[in-house]
Amino acid sequence: MSIQKCDDEEINTYKAQPAKILATKDLTEDTRYFKVRFVDESIIEEEYRPGQFAIMSIPGVGEAVFSISSPPTRTDFIEFGIRKVGSFTEALFKLKEGDIIYLRGPYGDGFDMGGLRGRDLIIVSGGLGAVPLRSVLLFVEDRREEYDQVFFLNGARSPADMLYREDFEAMASRGIIETHLSVDKDDTGEWPYNVGFVTALFPKIADRVVSEKTTALICGPPVMYKNVIKELLKLKIPKDQILMTLERRMKCGQGHCGHCAIEGRYTCLEGPVFTYYDVQRIKELI
Ligand SMILES: Cc1cc2nc3c(=O)[nH]c(=O)nc-3n(C[C@H](O)[C@H](O)[C@H](O)COP(=O)(O)OP(=O)(O)OC[C@H]3O[C@@H](n4cnc5c(N)ncnc54)[C@H](O)[C@@H]3O)c2cc1C
Ligand code: FES
Repeated sequence: MSIQKCDDEEINTYKAQPAKILATKDLTEDTRYFKVRFVDESIIEEEYRPGQFAIMSIPGVGEAVFSISSPPTRTDFIEFGIRKVGSFTEALFKLKEGDIIYLRGPYGDGFDMGGLRGRDLIIVSGGLGAVPLRSVLLFVEDRREEYDQVFFLNGARSPADMLYREDFEAMASRGIIETHLSVDKDDTGEWPYNVGFVTALFPKIADRVVSEKTTALICGPPVMYKNVIKELLKLKIPKDQILMTLERRMKCGQGHCGHCAIEGRYTCLEGPVFTYYDVQRIKELI
C-alpha cells in the first residue's frame, strides 16, 4: 500500500510530494473541501484503503494529519474535508486554487474493503466523521456488486453543520446506498429529513439487519460512539464486526515518534480503524 508512479516505481513515503490545489469549497462555516492532484502526474494513489490518512505540510508552517475522503477507485485527484481549528489549518485556509501543498502517505490501516465483500454494511457517521466514511461510501458505490445490503446513517448538529449535504442527498436519490440523514436540531424549520440523534435512524433499518452477515463502520465524535454501539449491540452485531475510526495525536504517521502510542501500540500503524473488541481491551482508545 503506497503512493506509486505509473511505471510501478515505489515512492518514498517519508518524502512529501508537491500537490496542487485544484478546487476548494466551503462545506460548513469552519470546514472546507480540498481537491488536490500531485504535481508529478505520473504519481498515482494505488490501492490505498478508505480510512487511511495522509500527512499534509506547508513549508514554513508545519504539517498535520488528514483522512483521505475520496475513494481509491477514483485516482485522478485526492480529496480532503478539513476543519479550521488552529495554526496549520488557518494557514491552509488562506491557500487558493493553484497553490501547492505537500503530501506524504498514505498511512494507517484503513478499512479492509476487500475483506468485507459479500457482507451487509451499516455505515454510521456524525459531524466530521463523514470525511473518512465518504471514501468508504464512494468506494461502495463504485463497487456496489461486491456488497449486499448497504445502509448509511448520517447525523449532524444542525442543517448548516451537515458536511456534504448535497452529495448525500444525491446519493439518496441515486438509491445505490440506502441513505438516511438526521440533525439533532432543526433551527431552520425547512429540514426535510429526520430530526434527532443519529441513533434515531436505527428503527428505519432494524427489521432488515441480518446480524451474522453485517459489519458496521462508524466515525464521529466520541459521544456518538457509545450510543451507536449500544444500538449495534441491540441488533446483535458481533463486537469484532463493529469497526470504528479513532483519532489520536499523530506526528510521523509511521511508528517512529511514539506520539500516538497507547499501551505500547502505535495507533498510526494499527489504527485509525479499530474493532469494538479492541477498544474494550485498550481502555484509553475511546
Ligand atoms: C488519523 C487522523 C485523521 C484526521 N482526519 C482529519 C480530517 O479528515 N479533517 C480534519 O479537519 N481533521 C482531521 N484530523 C485532525 C487534524 O489532524 C487536526 O485538526 C490538525 O492537526 C489541527 O492542526 P492545527 O495546527 O490547525 O491545530 P492545532 O493548533 O494543532 O490545534 C488546535 C486545536 O485542535 C485540537 N487538535 C489538534 N489535533 C487534534 C486531533 N488529532 N484530535 C483532536 N483534536 C485535535 C487541539 O487540541 C487544539 O484544541 C485527523 C487527525 C488524525 C489523527
Ligand atoms: S505518529 Fe509517530 S509513532 Fe505514531
